[in-house]
Amino acid sequence: MRINKFIAHAGVASRRKAEELIKQGLVTVNGQIVTELATTIKSGDLVEVEGTPIYNEEKVYYLLNKPRGVISSVSDDKGRKTVIDLLPTVKERIYPVGRLDWDTTGLLILTNDGDFTDKMIHPRNEIDKVYVARVKGIATKDNLRPLTKGVVIDGRKTKPARYTILKVDKEKDRSVVELTIHEGRNHQVKKMFESVGLLVDKLSRTRFGTLDVTGLRPGEYRRLNKKEISQLHNAALNNIK
Ligand code: URA
Repeated sequence: MRINKFIAHAGVASRRKAEELIKQGLVTVNGQIVTELATTIKSGDLVEVEGTPIYNEEKVYYLLNKPRGVISSVSDDKGRKTVIDLLPTVKERIYPVGRLDWDTTGLLILTNDGDFTDKMIHPRNEIDKVYVARVKGIATKDNLRPLTKGVVIDGRKTKPARYTILKVDKEKDRSVVELTIHEGRNHQVKKMFESVGLLVDKLSRTRFGTLDVTGLRPGEYRRLNKKEISQLHNAALNNIK
């Protein structure tokens, strides 16, 4: 891609303004000032405008089956393992779409597409996020009913959720419940169960909109294909009220 187009695409300046910046010697490629407008930029080149790196990457989308013991951030000041460490072959600057707790497993999307991310996490778009929780205690319709109406966590009511009781083990005094929500508040599923007296001791996200993690073992990832990405866009659009 021509350098002025590259700069314009990154949203730094118009093409014409970019040409001026180049002529003024304010643009470097891999540390060298370039004043030649015909310069082309290859993937992996570092372009800086007035010393600030600019990025113009192809949009990429990955699906990770997150294992336990990994944090959902791009970096960690305490040196803990992050989800980014699990995708070593990806060279784009991706980040997770929403978060899963350190001890939560399952479906996590990673991308460098900010608009897509906003769309996926906005509760208005009502994308289903399905979790399977193992909880201490006996789940019954009576104790789970408040979740379908909304419960107050951190001073704010949750949107109505759906549940299915998958298993009740009276001997071990524990149950497995599937919960579908549309929001992504901090520790939301754990807090929702806690609010009805059930403590989550294992949590996994099994579905996000039209996607599930079939075929991926914990720690494995793959690229999403075009069809899957457009299905997610459609899932968001169709739900807008
Ligand atoms: N809700 C939680 O409590 N934890 C997660 O990781 C995701 C949703």
